Amino acid sequence: MNQDQLKQLVGEAARDEVLKLPAGQVLGIGTGSTANCFIDALAAYRSHFSGAVSSSNATTERLLKHGFQVLDPNDVNVLPVYVDGADEIDPAGHMIKGGGGALTREKIIASMAKQFICICDASKQVSVLGSFALPVEIIPLSRGIVAQELAKLGGTVSLRMAKVTRTDLDQTPSEPFVTDNGGWILDIAGLQITNPLALESQINQIAGVITVGLFAKEKANILLVSNAAGVSKVTF
Ligand code: A5P
Repeated sequence: MNQDQLKQLVGEAARDEVLKLPAGQVLGIGTGSTANCFIDALAAYRSHFSGAVSSSNATTERLLKHGFQVLDPNDVNVLPVYVDGADEIDPAGHMIKGGGGALTREKIIASMAKQFICICDASKQVSVLGSFALPVEIIPLSRGIVAQELAKLGGTVSLRMAKVTRTDLDQTPSEPFVTDNGGWILDIAGLQITNPLALESQINQIAGVITVGLFAKEKANILLVSNAAGVSKVTF
């Protein structure tokens, strides 16, 4: 089974999991290729839910295309479940997220939810977080000072650039990647994150940081993980 098939498998397992909820609930929905598989698998059952809150413009677009009602988070009082992928997940359910740049809205929606269901293929499971560069969304004018502070953590800090293709230019233009919130992203490579909760709190203290893509306070409650043998469920 290739990685796309594994993502599809776990997307279907997440669909079966959320269909155990009573009808008429609102769902929180994440961003990325695995979350997309979940959305696609759930589309035929959308009437079981009164609506969804979305973690990015891309997810909103996909949900609307499938006919889901997308709600403003400010209008939602109870969110039983948030379903999303991860770039890495450790044995305690702490995650690195934000590879797709949607970390801030993802963390907001996750904080609203009673339960975070992480969905991924087994390649995302690690013993210690950090092989995947840790994304930090920042206010653009703070790039210099925040990069200096983040470099003190011991990793290599780089500004995420947009993937721009311009056929009218000899060179690919260098433009920062801009998030849905107008922020920029600094990626920290080469960390070994042995205390995710402490590091999340430390990075959150730096002026100019909007969100760090370390989900320790908002860690997963349930992990659905796929491999060639099928999907396993882990409860943290
Ligand atoms: C989006 O910003 C991310 O947090 C994604 O949830 C995460 O990168 C997982 O994405 P994939 O399912 O595409 O690997």
